[in-house]
Amino acid sequence: MTIEFAVIGGGVMGEVLSRAVTSAGVYTPEQVLVVDPNPNKLRKLQQEIGIKTSSHLSDVAQAQTVLLAVKPDNVPKVLSSLQHEKLSAHLLLISIVAGVSIEGMAAYLPEQSAIIRVMTNTPCLVNAGMSVLAPNGHVSESQQALALSIFSAVGESLILPEKYLDAVTGLSGSGPGFVFLIVDALIEAGVLQGLPRAISRQLVVQTLIGSAKLIQETDRHPAQLRDMVTSPGGTTIAGIQVMEEYKIRATLLKTVETATQRSKALGERNKENKI
Ligand SMILES: NC(=O)c1ccc[n+]([C@@H]2O[C@H](COP(=O)([O-])OP(=O)(O)OC[C@H]3O[C@@H](n4cnc5c(N)ncnc54)[C@H](OP(=O)(O)O)[C@@H]3O)[C@@H](O)[C@H]2O)c1
Repeated sequence: MTIEFAVIGGGVMGEVLSRAVTSAGVYTPEQVLVVDPNPNKLRKLQQEIGIKTSSHLSDVAQAQTVLLAVKPDNVPKVLSSLQHEKLSAHLLLISIVAGVSIEGMAAYLPEQSAIIRVMTNTPCLVNAGMSVLAPNGHVSESQQALALSIFSAVGESLILPEKYLDAVTGLSGSGPGFVFLIVDALIEAGVLQGLPRAISRQLVVQTLIGSAKLIQETDRHPAQLRDMVTSPGGTTIAGIQVMEEYKIRATLLKTVETATQRSKALGERNKENKI
């Protein structure tokens, strides 16, 4: 069977995505190839998922869809090597590499190559990721639908123009890090009030999951849901008063703004380094 989907980089994300596309039935294991320099990683992937593996980048040339899942520093070397290969005429390159622009990648590929730049996030590891896909003008509708089905295998996915990707990086890309910090602080807060740590963790995590589900499933504005739990003179409004006093809203606005600016700056630096 021919290779349809080639993944360059069998690290954390390469493994997650190749596992997901096969278990979701987007591809059969025989249609998937992972290329990575580490033979131990490849052996593990082959044994556990049954996909094809190789340590030769040239093997991706036969694939219609290539997923770039290496660290940004490896991108120039990988794309330069691909320049010497006879790539599929209908190649779709999908990149999950943070901070590398479509223009930067296009410079290494034949003119009018179809490229999709994606910003995803770590909850992909538990099939609850948020992936934003930015296609260039050469991506066909069927390629776009295929890419959406690949990333829907690890959570939610949607299409946006590339100009939004710095903000996406600052919000949903870095977001899990912000949430983990808040969760950690809330667990400590429970411990401070005398709760055993494991119980505090369970209470915080379930409160977070439950609140997120309530927002998602009722589709109500978060302020409306907050009003529902804030009785006059009660405990919640007393706590909210402290959150407002310590400027949590302004802190979060500034947090995402700074992360977005950082994403822009890293992108500029990559451009200067011809990535
Ligand atoms: N992890 C996340 O949650 C996340 C979220 C969003 C975006 N991303 C992006 O996804 C990309 C991959 O992240 P990751 O966490 O999966 O990184 P990772 O675990 O380090 O995986 C990268 C893999 O690529 C391999 N590699 C290096 N050079 C190669 C080459 N020339 N040909 C083929 N494979 C090569 C590496 O091998 P060696 O280890 O032997 O060098 C490694 O196995 C990054 O660009 C990151 O920005 C990650």
